[in-house]
Amino acid sequence: MSRFSSSTQDIPASGDVPRHVAIIMDGNGRWAKKRFMPRVAGHTRGVETVREMVRACLERGIGYLTLFAFSSENWRRPEEEVTLLMQLFVRALQHEVVKLHRNGVRLRVIGDLTRFDDKLQQMIRVAEEKTAGNDKLTLTIAANYGGRWDILQAANRLALAEPEKAGRWQESDLAPYLSMHYAPEPDLFIRTGGEERISNFLLWQLAYTEFHFTETLWPEFNEAALDLAIASFRRRERRFGRTSEQLRADPHPAATAADPASSRLDA
Ligand code: IPE
Ligand code: IPE
Ligand code: MG
Repeated sequence: MSRFSSSTQDIPASGDVPRHVAIIMDGNGRWAKKRFMPRVAGHTRGVETVREMVRACLERGIGYLTLFAFSSENWRRPEEEVTLLMQLFVRALQHEVVKLHRNGVRLRVIGDLTRFDDKLQQMIRVAEEKTAGNDKLTLTIAANYGGRWDILQAANRLALAEPEKAGRWQESDLAPYLSMHYAPEPDLFIRTGGEERISNFLLWQLAYTEFHFTETLWPEFNEAALDLAIASFRRRERRFGRTSEQLRADPHPAATAADPASSRLDA
């Protein structure tokens, strides 16, 4: 079982740099359109922002960076755009994995990978295995990912593994089957590009995450913009259902039996 399986009970120290940042990288198409370029030029430029963010997270001691690269709904886009996005993914794996490895980055890819061609699936497996021992930063790419898909696949796997407990499952039973079982829940969520929605990203894991929306388009997002998001995050008080007064008296309260993650349906 993952040690992070019920992290909504943990109260991280406030004012810290976020341990886990999750980003919806949006606005590539609009960035290109503003420059009278094809949408795909925006995606190509967006890869550079990914590089900059990985470097920035390493420098700031952020342990987990999760990026939404392709949603389960993005297959609805024109075939030409989907093909280019897949090519960019393959190219990034070919060129970036060595550098990631050298810098101590562990790469993980979450999502329904069965829809990708065999070559891409194989490249993902090789990259994950090669970087498995790294612990400076865990970079997770969500590809053909959907938050509803994630919860469903976890529920289905739990049902097969522990059928005798059906009707009495707790949050902590499901958590190890979710695709991000290896990471604490995101502290800070950022969406670039001006839209203020989750678009089926990490539905379960964002339950108590702090949200930051910015108009900045992903190709223009940079270190300074990340620092603004972090500064905003650090000014917030994360209460996890408690009151300010309680937190001032005891900033790191232990989980209680009344916490949802430890409650039982039949209790
Ligand atoms: C996000 O940028 C990248 C992907 C969804 C792959 P968009 O392509 O959604 O850019 P906009 O929202 O059309 O500007
Ligand atoms: C969300 O962006 C998915 C990714 C960034 C990969 P979209 O551009 O697909 O989201 P919607 O369609 O505007 O909600
Ligand atoms: Mg978009």
